[in-house]
Amino acid sequence: MIICKTRDEISAAVAELRRQNKTLGFVPTMGALHNGHLSLVKKSMSENDCTAVSIFVNPTQFNNKHDLQTYPRTVDADVKLLEETGADIAFVPSVETMYPEGLDNVTESYDFGFIGQVMEGAARPGHFNGVGIVVHRLFDLVKPDRAYFGMKDFQQIAIIREMVRQCNINIEIIPCPIVREDDGLALSSRNTRLNEEQRRQAVQISQTLFKAVGLVGEKSVDEVKEFVISTVNSVPLLDVEYFEIVDGYSLQTIPSWNEAEWVVGCITVNVGDVRLIDNITLKK
Ligand code: PAF
Repeated sequence: MIICKTRDEISAAVAELRRQNKTLGFVPTMGALHNGHLSLVKKSMSENDCTAVSIFVNPTQFNNKHDLQTYPRTVDADVKLLEETGADIAFVPSVETMYPEGLDNVTESYDFGFIGQVMEGAARPGHFNGVGIVVHRLFDLVKPDRAYFGMKDFQQIAIIREMVRQCNINIEIIPCPIVREDDGLALSSRNTRLNEEQRRQAVQISQTLFKAVGLVGEKSVDEVKEFVISTVNSVPLLDVEYFEIVDGYSLQTIPSWNEAEWVVGCITVNVGDVRLIDNITLKK
């Protein structure tokens, strides 16, 4: 595996692959890699000649300083895991490499419209602009054929698709299923910040979403929404920030089950100072 740190290094590595006419899959990550990330790497490896993975904790997408400071960083272990999994390139840039103009001078500004304003967009002002900026810059450097994203960050995929559409970028965006622990908790780098008791209680997030699937049709959209929020909030250490039942394509909330073909329940829960997100397809 080639490890690239600078713009010149990644550009040279990618140019060499292109010279050999190889297809390239790309998995952008913020590190603290877990089996969810590795499932993306494996999918990319199965669909492309070569796979590049970036590890970069992107400051411009954190609207909360504490979240940025406490975000888990395990670069050495990450690189080792990528090597063992069989990735071809690890791109591990510094903040200066990604933002040579300095973080205070970053000027790109995206307007994602409605999909950027709801749920995570409303809860984390500036977050999706930062995601758009860094993913666009990574795409410019890595120039992959396909890029792989986990569906745990459901809204992020819609944002990246929109960014690719607005900027006319010729890269196929491939959404990949959520990977869960045996008890159902969605894998997340942030899970490592939960203490034992928080981790034990956090399982109720996914368990409640699974129960909600069984209530579709039998109960109204509002009743299912109320069921999920009150059930999760009844767990002492869990605090629902939002739970929305939305059209999976437009992200508009729906008044009744027949309003959309694909219906997704999206939840964000604070467990102490750890913010966990999850989602489930309620109907498709
Ligand atoms: O999903 C993530 O880990 C990040 O938002 C991403 C796509 C790597 C951009 O920093």
